[in-house]
Amino acid sequence: VETYQAKQPLVGKRVLVSAGGTQERIDPVRYIGNDSSGKMGTAVANAAAAAGAEVTLVATKMLPVLPGVEAVYVTSAAELHDAMLANFDAADLVVMAAAVADFRPVDVSGTKIKKQSADDGLHLDLVQNPDILAAMGAQKSHQYLVGFAAETNDLVANAQAKLEHKGADMIVANPVGYGQGFNADTDTVTILRRGQDPLALDEAAKRDVAATIVGLAEAEM
Ligand code: CTP
Ligand code: CA
Repeated sequence: VETYQAKQPLVGKRVLVSAGGTQERIDPVRYIGNDSSGKMGTAVANAAAAAGAEVTLVATKMLPVLPGVEAVYVTSAAELHDAMLANFDAADLVVMAAAVADFRPVDVSGTKIKKQSADDGLHLDLVQNPDILAAMGAQKSHQYLVGFAAETNDLVANAQAKLEHKGADMIVANPVGYGQGFNADTDTVTILRRGQDPLALDEAAKRDVAATIVGLAEAEM
């Protein structure tokens, strides 16, 4: 990692990274969202900065960043979408590590939803959020586009489908489950790229996985 970073191969390049899980408001005290600590995305931003890039990190979680990383904080998928698209044209490398909530409530209640009786439940109407990675895949020109895939089963097949459908150049496939993947300091990922065999990495610290992702992307930019 140190030797790679010492070469500063990303000097003069702009890197755009997302990190963390989005929160979709139900009412002033509740939200629905995806699990994500923001550690992997922030590690990618820091790895790119260590390699000399000017980095914009769009994050839902505030974690320590290196000099060279400008952090923009957002909460919802809609805010994340707007921040990513606003920075997309200027970027050379884009890494979509955020866990975007797939659905948001149709209506956001202005007041706290109260329980009515002892045995009632709650029905929420949800709509799909826009697919930010696919939107960037559809409009990319010179950008090298990296996405993630969090899968509980059929890791490579599901991730391969995302590589193709979303117009990404690389998908980092991440096995997840109860007690696995989220909020850990290590990851065991498989890297998929167009026309290449899957590259299964050994379990490693997130900062080392992040440096590998940035190094592999940089080699193809
Ligand atoms: N993604 C996105 N916008 C969304 C949903 C996902 O940009 N609305 C991105 C994620 O940041 C990730 C990639 O798409 O880089 C794959 O996310 P994932 O949740 O694994 O896939 P989905 O396409 O949402 O499919 P599903 O959750 O149904 O498996
Ligand atoms: Ca999803």
